[in-house]
Amino acid sequence: MAAEPDRVLIFDTTLRDGEQAPGCSMMRPEKLRVARSLAELGVDVIEAGFPAASKGDWESVQAVSREVQGPVICALARCTREDIELAARALADAPRRRIHVFLATSAIHRQYKLNMAEGEILRAAIEGVRLARELCEDVEFSPEDASRTELEFLAQVVEAAIEAGAGTVNIPDTVGYTVPDEFAELFRYLRKNVRGIERIRLSVHCHDDLGMAVANSLTAVVAGARQIECTINGIGERAGNCSLEEVVMALKTRSAFFNVTTGIQTTRLYPASRLVSSITGMPVPRNKAVVGENAFAHEAGIHQHGVLRHYSTYEIMRPEDVGLSRSHLILGKHSGRHAFRERVRALGFELEEADFNQVFEEFKALADKKKELFDGDIEALVLRVEGAAAGPWTLLGLETHAGTEGPATAKVRLGHADGRLIERSAQGDGPVDGAFKAIEAATGVGVMLRKFEVRGVTEGEDAQGEAVVYVEYNQRTYRGSSVSTNIVESSTKAFLEVINRIEQAAAGTRSRERAGTLGSASAI
Ligand code: KIV
Ligand code: ZN
Repeated sequence: MAAEPDRVLIFDTTLRDGEQAPGCSMMRPEKLRVARSLAELGVDVIEAGFPAASKGDWESVQAVSREVQGPVICALARCTREDIELAARALADAPRRRIHVFLATSAIHRQYKLNMAEGEILRAAIEGVRLARELCEDVEFSPEDASRTELEFLAQVVEAAIEAGAGTVNIPDTVGYTVPDEFAELFRYLRKNVRGIERIRLSVHCHDDLGMAVANSLTAVVAGARQIECTINGIGERAGNCSLEEVVMALKTRSAFFNVTTGIQTTRLYPASRLVSSITGMPVPRNKAVVGENAFAHEAGIHQHGVLRHYSTYEIMRPEDVGLSRSHLILGKHSGRHAFRERVRALGFELEEADFNQVFEEFKALADKKKELFDGDIEALVLRVEGAAAGPWTLLGLETHAGTEGPATAKVRLGHADGRLIERSAQGDGPVDGAFKAIEAATGVGVMLRKFEVRGVTEGEDAQGEAVVYVEYNQRTYRGSSVSTNIVESSTKAFLEVINRIEQAAAGTRSRERAGTLGSASAI
């Protein structure tokens, strides 16, 4: 008789390692939205942030701890008293919490990054885990760059961390260097040579520098890992982390091979992927496994013929299994609340009543401009609810003039939350450039435009255009996006969202400075 499948825990680090990816930083309300969607997805652990990295990170971990029910909420800390205490304080309100302490162990990191000898690393790891255990029952330890650490020394550190009280030991392939056979061997070595390893949960954490993060994570499961650290859409440092949707669907689709289960509601994968992509502005490649636009599209005639006969000829998963419920049902201005609600649900989104009412109003307004609304239009409306950085500025009016002769002109009318009404005009190289310059003049915030993209969210002549703007301001990257059937309007609103984010960040810093909530923040 086959053994009962073991449960593999899914530890999501989208809000920590994922957010470390350039251009993927999220504001607190956005992090909360992602955390709620991860809870609905059924992840076991949410790594909500690295509280010592910044005040914003600390506050986000605290907000997730207070507001998100279900999964264990985890915070990352270096093996220092300050980091560990900050993590414990940020997690204090979480009903289930974990402190994740890490310390690099490889010779390269010991020599060039830490300037510490093996003995010092051992002592710091033990002290870090012990202190974390004093403040939190559930402690995870990661020897950073484990895959490039001498095996004997790695085994020594892991054994010491277990003795000091770690309940989970995570083995990171920090630089995405290992290959499946070698990594499986490393896990087998640790299981054979580390005293007490049978008492703890072994975890795996892979980066995708050589495109093997998912394969390396799966091989670790075969070799005994029972927790996988991963991110939605595989976002993360450099080439990213192990992609949650890919690793989960591999375990599910090939369950007879792996003989393990996860607690993931796979029908929530697609909505979670769209949400993270829309919030971070990191597009999902069309051909991405599991959640890419083409993942279930069959172009070749011979494939289409086979799938029509029976889906199993060319499909190893069903689109519905991952929450991709494409329909040819088109909604329009005569569609009622009920039909709209059903479509929103079929697309995998659950909205609170107030949010639903707001999206329904926007749907009606859009249906007045656009004859037919496709799934992509509805998704864009739902993903934007409470997504846009709210205020302080609102666009009250926009006029542009552009032609082939001479510069374009744009006039914007803005309202500020403090009651100011400001109108400014500017010339530019095209109406969008003019509108951006007019907004800078009206708000007094000058930025460096780094990237500007417009793409259609659906097909057709009256398709909506999503504009995404990236700017640099005070050495930080800010991003804004907006959707409209008029791309000058969506571009202008996306730019104004950037200005709002800058003003919100500045206001947050000022109020925290006044309240003196935290000491100075440090980066990794
Ligand atoms: O990649 C890595 O080593 C990490 C650790 C902090 C777990 O992210
Ligand atoms: Zn990592």
